Amino acid sequence: MNMLHAESLRQDPRIAQAKQLIAEAMRDHSASMTDVSPSDPDQSANYQSLIDGFTCARGGPPIWPYFASGLGNGPYVELADGSVKLDFIGGIGVHGGGHSNPDLVSASIDAAIEDTVMQGNLQQNPASIEMMQRLVSLASESGAPLEHVLLSTSGAMANENALKLAFHHRQPADRIIAFDNAFAGRSIALAALTDRPAYRNGLPKAIQVDYLPFLHPDHPEKSQRWAVDELKRLLKRYPGKHAAFWAEPIAGEGGYYPGSHDFFTALCEPLREAGVPIIFDEVQTFSRTSRPFAFQHYGLDQFADIVTVGKITQVCATLYRNDFHPKAPILSQTFTGSTSAISTGLATLDALQSTHCFGADGGNMKRHAYFAEQLQKLVDKYPGSISGPFGEGMMIVFTPGDGTLDHAKLLMNLMFEEGLLGFLCGAEPARLRFLPPPMITTNDHIDAAIKLLDRSLEKFVSQK
Ligand SMILES: Cc1ncc(COP(=O)(O)O)c(C=O)c1O
Repeated sequence: MNMLHAESLRQDPRIAQAKQLIAEAMRDHSASMTDVSPSDPDQSANYQSLIDGFTCARGGPPIWPYFASGLGNGPYVELADGSVKLDFIGGIGVHGGGHSNPDLVSASIDAAIEDTVMQGNLQQNPASIEMMQRLVSLASESGAPLEHVLLSTSGAMANENALKLAFHHRQPADRIIAFDNAFAGRSIALAALTDRPAYRNGLPKAIQVDYLPFLHPDHPEKSQRWAVDELKRLLKRYPGKHAAFWAEPIAGEGGYYPGSHDFFTALCEPLREAGVPIIFDEVQTFSRTSRPFAFQHYGLDQFADIVTVGKITQVCATLYRNDFHPKAPILSQTFTGSTSAISTGLATLDALQSTHCFGADGGNMKRHAYFAEQLQKLVDKYPGSISGPFGEGMMIVFTPGDGTLDHAKLLMNLMFEEGLLGFLCGAEPARLRFLPPPMITTNDHIDAAIKLLDRSLEKFVSQK
C-alpha cells in the first residue's frame, strides 16, 4: 500500500525540524516569565488603544482589562501592556495546559499543515474521528452507556444539541428541569434554561424550565430532601411533560458548589422511574476532578444519558446513548471545530493522562487539598474578609468579605493589580473562582497565588 501524500508530508523530517526550531525560539522568548511583573509604561498608550478599539467595536468596555500579548509560560501570561500575570482563570478553564504550552503549540503546527482550517459535516480529517472516539472511550470507561458523539464549536451549541436530542427523544414533552443558579450558555433556549433573568432580558421564552434547589454545603441533608420533594412534586404536577433533567455536577457559574453521589442518586432514581432523560453539562467540570468527567467522580455513570463538554477540550461535544440517536436530520453543522482546536484538544487529553491529573490521589485532588489548606490560613489571618467552602478538585473558590458583588469585584480588581487572575461566580454570596491549569499547576504556583492573594487581602481589609 502506498503512503498517502498527506501522511508523507506529516512524516517529512523538515516538519519535525521546523517544529523543533519553533519550540526552541518560544522557549527562549518565554523562559524569563516565571513571576508576575508590572506593566511597561512605554506600552501603556498602545494598550489603551487596544482597550479603546475593543470598546468601540463591541459597543462597550471589556469585562476587565485583559488583552494578552500572545505569549506566556505555564500559568504566567504576558499582557499587551508588558505586565506578566499569574493566570489562574485561563479564559474560564480554557488554558488547561497553561500558556504557550509546547505540546499544544506542536499540535497546532500539525493542524496548520492540514488543508482544512475548519472541519465539519462535509469536511472531516482523521483528527476529528480520533477526537470523537477518544471522547466516547473516556466517557464510557466506567460503564456509562454513551456510544455516540457530535463535535461543535461552543459549549452553548453542545448544549443546544443535547436539548434537541432530549426533546426529540421525548416528544411531545416540552419542559426541562434544572437547578437554581444554573448556567447553560447564551443561545435563546439556553438563556431560558440559565437561571439569570438579566441574561434573557427582552428575549422570547423558548422553553419551559422548572428549577430545583442545589445541594447546600451548610445543610446537605435538608437541601437534598427539599430537592427530592420538589422534584417529585414537579413530576406529579407535569406527568410526561419533562424532556430532560439538565445538571452541572458541580454548580459552575452558580458558585462552585459540589454535588455528591448521594444527592444526585436521590434525584436520578425518581427521574429514571419517570423516564426523564438526564443531561450532565460538563463544559466547565470536565478534567477537574478525580476522573475525566465529574459524573464519573460522583459514580453516576448509569444515569448519564447525554453529556456535554467544552472549554479545556478546545472543541466542544455532545455525547449520547444509542437510543437517543435522532430519527430525523435535526443535527448538522458546517463547522464542528477548527483543525487546531481538534488537534490541541487531542494533545490536551493526552497530557491530562500523562501528567496524572486523575485518580483519588491524583494531581487534581492533591492540589485541591493543598490549595484549600493555604486558603484556610488566609481565612484565619483575615477573618471576615475571606471564607470557604473552597470548591472541588481544580475548581477552587472562596467568598470575599460579606458576599456582596461589590466586595467580590473589589477583591478581584485588587488581585488583578497584584498580578493574580481569578474571576467572579455565584450570587448571594458572590464568590471568586480559580481554574488553575490542571496539567501544569504545581504547589509552587499555588504558593505564588496565595502570596498575591495575601497582598490583595491586606489592601482589601482597608478598602472594603
Ligand atoms: C456549565 C457551562 N455550560 C455551558 C457553557 C457555555 O459554553 P460556551 O461559552 O462555550 O458557549 C458554559 C460557559 O461558561 C458553562 O460554564
